Amino acid sequence: MRRIAIVTSGGDAPGMNTALNAAYQMGRDLGIELVGVRRGYEGLSEGDFVPFDPLELRESMNRGGTILGTARYEAFITEEIQQQAIRHLADGDMEGLIVIGGNGSQRGSLTIHTHGFPVVGIASTVDNDLYGSDVSIGVDTALNTIIDSLDRIGTTADSHHRAFLVEVMGRDYGYLALMSGIASGAEVIVTPEFEMEPEEVARELRLAHDQGKRYAIAVVTDGAKNGVEKIADYIEKHPQEFDFELRMTILGHVQRGGSPTVFDRYLATRLGSAAVQALRDGKRGVLAGWRDSGVAYVPLREVVSGRKDLNVSLWRLALMLSK
Ligand code: F6P
Repeated sequence: MRRIAIVTSGGDAPGMNTALNAAYQMGRDLGIELVGVRRGYEGLSEGDFVPFDPLELRESMNRGGTILGTARYEAFITEEIQQQAIRHLADGDMEGLIVIGGNGSQRGSLTIHTHGFPVVGIASTVDNDLYGSDVSIGVDTALNTIIDSLDRIGTTADSHHRAFLVEVMGRDYGYLALMSGIASGAEVIVTPEFEMEPEEVARELRLAHDQGKRYAIAVVTDGAKNGVEKIADYIEKHPQEFDFELRMTILGHVQRGGSPTVFDRYLATRLGSAAVQALRDGKRGVLAGWRDSGVAYVPLREVVSGRKDLNVSLWRLALMLSK
């Protein structure tokens, strides 16, 4: 194998640049040229290839985001666009493709694999919802950012004796809410897996007040059916049931920014280099993910059809801690 294209796709995640650098360096060591694809699958379908500048890679390897740019590109579900991308790969003399991204991106990888082009994915999404990998690039950094934010919110909430509804990312998977809720000692954790009605959230926050707590925090997943707005709306309409003054914070994209943590740098380095080795060794249609503290290659078919469940015993632990 002499030439491999590499693309970052979907939501960016801190550590993507670290993975690009590691893949490039592994390629150099093995005598394989790594070529970047700009703007995710959109760029791939237009053949938007770019040679890497090793100095730029070195300088950006510890910065968040992705120097290649990324995109959510719905049109990639069409057969015509997929074939177009494969034609560009062939015209560019690429013999393999590495896709750094989450669920949607690895669905794209599987289609390319199905069309017979050699692909290896790399697990990367702050949501940690990618089946087949215990953890993905960006999760640890996002969690640390959330914890830092919750601690900061805690000091102002404490000073004003307020309750806060804090929306965190995660979409359909409540991992970030659950882990940050446990780590910060939140009074309430709302996830799509364990939904709560707005009145239940209000009741739990009021209970915290009755217990003499000076403030209370509810961490709410952005994809929950009863999100922060619905809960706030309920509390506003039932002020007699609520003793705290209420504020709401949407953490938003701050969770996807910032420099990758030590763990994310390590994970991205291991997965970036492993993906190149995998293609060199003839592995096809697999995800380079992380299982039991090491790199694991999981068939993309399994990754795409599997679904991660939130750990019920962790959820019970969180409930116990919040009381
Ligand atoms: O999938 C990553 C994620 O950050 C989700 O947690 C969030 O719901 C979504 O992307 C936000 O998407 P966008 O950046 O397109 O607004």
